[in-house]
Amino acid sequence: MKIGIDKIGFYTPHIFVDMEKLAVARNVEPAKFTIGIGQSQMSVAPATQDSVTLAANAALEIINDEDREKIDFVIFGSESGIDHSKSGAVYVHHLLGLNPNARAVELKQACYAATAGIQMAKGHVALNPESKVLVLGTDIARYGLNTSGESTQGAGAVAMIISANPRIMELDNQNVYLTNDIMDFWRPIYSDKAFVDGKFSNEQYILFFNKVWEAYKDKSGLELKDMEAICYHLPYTKMGLKALRTVLDDAPEEVKERLLENYQISTIYNRNVGNIYTGSLYLSLLSLLENKELKDSSRIGMFSYGSGAVGEFFTGILQPNYRQHLNLEGHQQLFNSRQEVSVEEYERIFEETLPADGSDIEFDISRDPATIVLSGSLENKRQYVNKNR
Ligand code: CAA
Repeated sequence: MKIGIDKIGFYTPHIFVDMEKLAVARNVEPAKFTIGIGQSQMSVAPATQDSVTLAANAALEIINDEDREKIDFVIFGSESGIDHSKSGAVYVHHLLGLNPNARAVELKQACYAATAGIQMAKGHVALNPESKVLVLGTDIARYGLNTSGESTQGAGAVAMIISANPRIMELDNQNVYLTNDIMDFWRPIYSDKAFVDGKFSNEQYILFFNKVWEAYKDKSGLELKDMEAICYHLPYTKMGLKALRTVLDDAPEEVKERLLENYQISTIYNRNVGNIYTGSLYLSLLSLLENKELKDSSRIGMFSYGSGAVGEFFTGILQPNYRQHLNLEGHQQLFNSRQEVSVEEYERIFEETLPADGSDIEFDISRDPATIVLSGSLENKRQYVNKNR
């Protein structure tokens, strides 16, 4: 039985900062951010968006009434969770009006959690072929104003339906994974901003990629020439390129050219959104699929990396007419309707968070065009609104 990605949706907040303007404000050469890091725009999450609303808005784009009935498992992958106990999946399940006879859980392992979610979903569908699983990768990347990680922030979510007979991508089963206890990037419970050893994280990302790629080649017998493209977890768009370059010497010239060209296409969306942690690899896949017509049955390599660290390499096969099941127009509209905010405005928005002492607050939701928003907090409970209900 074929199992894989049947639908894929995406959401990013309605405001962004221009990276050249951020560079000027930080006294940095703009080319460092646009070329050295490889980012053009950075999505900014207003106080009315959190990991739950981002995920719910991404899912809203893809689910119909049949999905509402058939989804019996919601997996919320995030490292921006809003509660130490209750999962974000339960809120999303309610906001979307899904069938009550469903499981709902949250998974965490930095940027890797959505990949773990997809693998769990595959197992669930293998045992229950009629089921559909909603897998969410949703995050707000926060390092802090004026930090070296600031240029690699971002916000957004990807939602996927994993099912039998998928219409977009069949996932194969020769995955290779790797875990090693390292401190390259982490976020202690008391902090709403990440801690990072930047250079070390870059080195480990590449090391993990090299190790899982080598092992994948041994296990599968496949090589670079068998990949139409390789999509990467993209903390910033230069990162995947650095990893890809380390293996290109093994490939004939035409394969090298193809992989480099498709790499650029796979970074278009990420370049304008920033890091969305768990959703980043899948946003890169979406960018590739929506911005280039690839042949049916093309094999796409996927490198997932979650600091701390877990890495995985796996591949998927594009299904006949997969492009008919994408939403290029909707995503172009999402990007085109975003509004730029000044660096000063972004700084103000960055500091506007729910009160840390749990006191009540009400936000003005009229300025956020998203369908699902956070309207505030009352008696220590986040208040969510689905404007369509
Ligand atoms: N024109 C063009 N390029 C320029 C330039 C200019 N004027 N000035 C500098 N550059 C280049 C540099 O040469 C460098 O390129 P290379 O890496 O190819 O050598 C690049 O711009 C970045 O410069 P620095 O290394 O000096 O940048 P930095 O130290 O200020 O910060 C960073 C870079 C370490 C990535 C930092 O942004 C950071 O810590 N980010 C968060 C951590 C991260 O994203 N790590 C990635 C791996 S971990 C992971 O993937 C998990 C996750 O999501 C967090």
